[in-house]
Amino acid sequence: MRAIEDLPGPEPLPWVGNFHQMDPARMHRAMETWSEQFGPLFRFRIGTRVVVGVADPVAIGVIFRDRPNGFRKPELLESVFEELGLGGVFSANGEAWRTQRKVVMAAFDTRHLKSYFPALSRVIGRFYNRWSLHAAREEPFDLQADLMRFTVDVVAGLAFGVDFNTIESDGETIQTHLNHVFPMLNRRLSAPFKYWRWLKLPADRALDRHMAIVQQEVRALISQARERLAADPALRSSPTNLLEAMLVELAAPGDELNDRILVGNALTMLLAGEDTTANTLVWLIHFASGHPVVMQRLAEEADTALGEAHFAERLEVAAALDFTAATAQETMRLKPVAPVMLVQANEPKVIGDVAIPRGTIIATLMRPGSLDARYFDRPQSFEPERWLDVPGADAPAAARERIAMPFGAGPRICPGRNLALLEIKLVTSMLFRNFQIVHLGTLDGAPIDERLSFTMAPSPLRITLARRSSGTGRVRETRAS
Ligand code: HEM
Repeated sequence: MRAIEDLPGPEPLPWVGNFHQMDPARMHRAMETWSEQFGPLFRFRIGTRVVVGVADPVAIGVIFRDRPNGFRKPELLESVFEELGLGGVFSANGEAWRTQRKVVMAAFDTRHLKSYFPALSRVIGRFYNRWSLHAAREEPFDLQADLMRFTVDVVAGLAFGVDFNTIESDGETIQTHLNHVFPMLNRRLSAPFKYWRWLKLPADRALDRHMAIVQQEVRALISQARERLAADPALRSSPTNLLEAMLVELAAPGDELNDRILVGNALTMLLAGEDTTANTLVWLIHFASGHPVVMQRLAEEADTALGEAHFAERLEVAAALDFTAATAQETMRLKPVAPVMLVQANEPKVIGDVAIPRGTIIATLMRPGSLDARYFDRPQSFEPERWLDVPGADAPAAARERIAMPFGAGPRICPGRNLALLEIKLVTSMLFRNFQIVHLGTLDGAPIDERLSFTMAPSPLRITLARRSSGTGRVRETRAS
């Protein structure tokens, strides 16, 4: 049995450890490079904290399934989230997590998704109108920013029962403020010490201002939900959204702690549901635009599933989009938007042949397994078909899902995954049914790059769309870069 000190890893400096080698925006790449250099189990240091890197997907699966008892979210993560008023199901541990998780799962179940579909279809309809305008003008637009309007509107509708309609507003939106949160979370989680408790830098003061605005908006939503429940007591036995369910299950009026939990969870939903889905869609569109055959198949599938419609008006359409779903899986295999996840051992553990003392922080690397030729043929190549269970395929898709785990695994698996996949299907089918990509590229023409800001985003991309030459199922040759 090895001890952590016996593990290989990059040489740390006194005090800062390996912090100097970890640019926050490329931290995941630094860890992935170490796993290539030192193997699937290695160690490094952030400040004086020792972190064990785990890149073996089988070991990661075991760790993830051993929650919440064996492993927890790190104390540092929990306190950073708490301090910002973001404490909720994502950061909570133990009993608090169990209670919150139950409420969240109920609000995201298939029954709620089904009854939410008409509202969701309205949102995709508005999004179709927005992209029709862009296409009519053949003007380039910021792809990420547009997709985040879509994802925020969807989450707000489902989780809070409100129609933000940021898609049709061109002014300042809640995203403007949310967008400042992720990079700062990242910065604080990777800081060698909690500097902001002693000295607030301009970015920390800006973060406080943005947080104050979103908190105020969320508190207003909670008050409205409280009023709805007071006006219609029947809602208490069948709440129509997450906010109402949380008020029924978690809140005792006037209880400050529970108020914090409500606000924290509402913000958690906005944050967890915005960038993740939007960035996955950006990566998907990026890959498709570079693979004309995939793009054509997506268009043909959308034509067949949607018929005369421009976008999905019925939930059943989603069930007919298998190739689109496979394209999403393949995108997430190559570009998991959460490429590194942190856990902390609650008790002494053994990972592989290494003894892990209680309290050790583990960084799980989600991508190395997905790029391992033992699990995926031609692992670097973008091949959505590998996710379709076709006769003669090397392994069933279900087995591969245990290696590529973009939504995590075990009891803390992403509760928004069905919603996310539905959103991805709706946007992808709407895009390829109606439009062709005239150009897609970075602002400065440089190759697309990965930037970690809590989730892994591509460099900002601008896209130009044109209306597709009608009904043939063919996509005009693209000039996408
Ligand atoms: C493509 C889109 C998405 C991806 C790739 C993604 C990925 C993830 C991952 C990797 C985790 C950690 C799972 C684990 O610890 O095992 C997670 C957790 C979570 N996600 Fe997602 N997610 C996506 C969309 C969403 C959406 C749309 C929502 C809700 C609106 C959401 C809400 C959450 C929440 C609340 C958690 C914390 C769950 C817990 O700790 O119990 N996610 N997600």
